[in-house]
Amino acid sequence: MAEVSKVVFVDGVRTPFGRAGEKGMYWNTRADDLIAKAMIGLLERNPSIPLDRYDDVAVAATTQQGDQGLTLGRTVALLAGLPRSVPGYAIDRMCAGAMTSVTTLASAIGFGMYDIAIAGGVEHMGHHPMGSGVDPNPRFLAEKLVGSDALSMGATAERIHDRFPHLTKERADRFAMNSQHKLAKAYENGKIQPDLIPIAIRSEAGWGLAERDEAPRPDTTMEGLAGLKTPFRPHGRITAGNSSGLNDGATVSIIASADAAKEFGLAPKMRLVSFAFAGVEPEIMGIGPIPSTEKALRKAGLTIDDIGLFELNEAFAVQVLSLLDHFNIADDDPRVNLWGGAIAIGHPLASTGVRLMIQLARQFEEHPEVRYGLTAMCVGLGQGGSVIWENPHYKGSRK
Ligand SMILES: CC(C)(COP(=O)(O)OP(=O)(O)OC[C@H]1O[C@@H](n2cnc3c(N)ncnc32)[C@H](O)[C@@H]1OP(=O)(O)O)[C@@H](O)C(=O)NCCC(=O)NCCS
Repeated sequence: MAEVSKVVFVDGVRTPFGRAGEKGMYWNTRADDLIAKAMIGLLERNPSIPLDRYDDVAVAATTQQGDQGLTLGRTVALLAGLPRSVPGYAIDRMCAGAMTSVTTLASAIGFGMYDIAIAGGVEHMGHHPMGSGVDPNPRFLAEKLVGSDALSMGATAERIHDRFPHLTKERADRFAMNSQHKLAKAYENGKIQPDLIPIAIRSEAGWGLAERDEAPRPDTTMEGLAGLKTPFRPHGRITAGNSSGLNDGATVSIIASADAAKEFGLAPKMRLVSFAFAGVEPEIMGIGPIPSTEKALRKAGLTIDDIGLFELNEAFAVQVLSLLDHFNIADDDPRVNLWGGAIAIGHPLASTGVRLMIQLARQFEEHPEVRYGLTAMCVGLGQGGSVIWENPHYKGSRK
């Protein structure tokens, strides 16, 4: 009889994130190749794990057709050279896809059915623009199951400004500018590069190598942000500067039982403590991580004060501010998004969840005084996802 296991995050990598569209660096690269290359990089840097021991591969994408179709987990496992005996499947929870790949496999590991598995996500928003190919049921609007804003993420973010007028555009812009500056500093200090798998890219100029994220704007100023258009509402507050952008990229991670990690001589980077998903009004989806975080904290028997590091997805600055405000955390609290976030790095939807985990894992190494960290994100159609992690390097003092 299998027994309940502790679940650990062994390792994670990602591709550099590109700008979506014809001018973006991955325009001529397939989505499945992006994640297959990231997976090969991950397997290569964990050579002590026999390839036939992986129990499963879960890969998320929001648009599951074309180069993101055909049951990604299985196709990518084959493309990455895993033995044919290793199965795989596809996951979708929109922006929280990769996060759900991790929590779904973690559940199988926790239940004792799996020992070790691969979880990730990919989104090529250039090849698959948000909402392309969808056919929302007419009942949604006809029966007012959701308001029309629910289908435009930018409009849902405008609604957060409406509901919480003290979360001003100026505060959102400042948060966004800081995200850009924090990421620039993290790159300068070599914090981001170790977990990037370089990708060969083809453009009119010939072959090249993608080694850094393409979207960051390190020179962002408050003046520059103040003058931007508000595409989701006339005289609105959401701009290209205080939103995440449209990006291409992939992430992938190894999740294992603590026993399997030991068997393969691996030093886990994080231990999974609890996770939760929650639903909120679809028209104001950005507040989703508030109830999911409360639920995850409750399951863990912790309070927000126990969290020493936060990796919050920056779908929109105001949406992160709503969570910080709810928990009484300052906009510029140094525990939050230490190395910047999606506003600067980019947010290739279903891949981002594991990007948050990769960064938290690195920060745990540098902060042995921190015991617990949170990765959390909002999800389209009104959801939030939160995962709480424990730092294996914890040496006491701060919680
Ligand atoms: C907001 C959004 C519509 C902007 O798209 P876009 O117009 O293609 O964005 P761009 O990068 O071209 O930026 C628009 C303009 O703002 C400028 N800009 C963007 N960021 C800037 C910054 N930090 N500082 C100064 N200017 C900036 C650009 O230079 C560009 O200027 P231009 O029009 O003079 O060329 C798009 O990024 C979006 O939809 N984001 C949300 C994605 C989303 O919903 N994800 C899911 C979350 S749940």
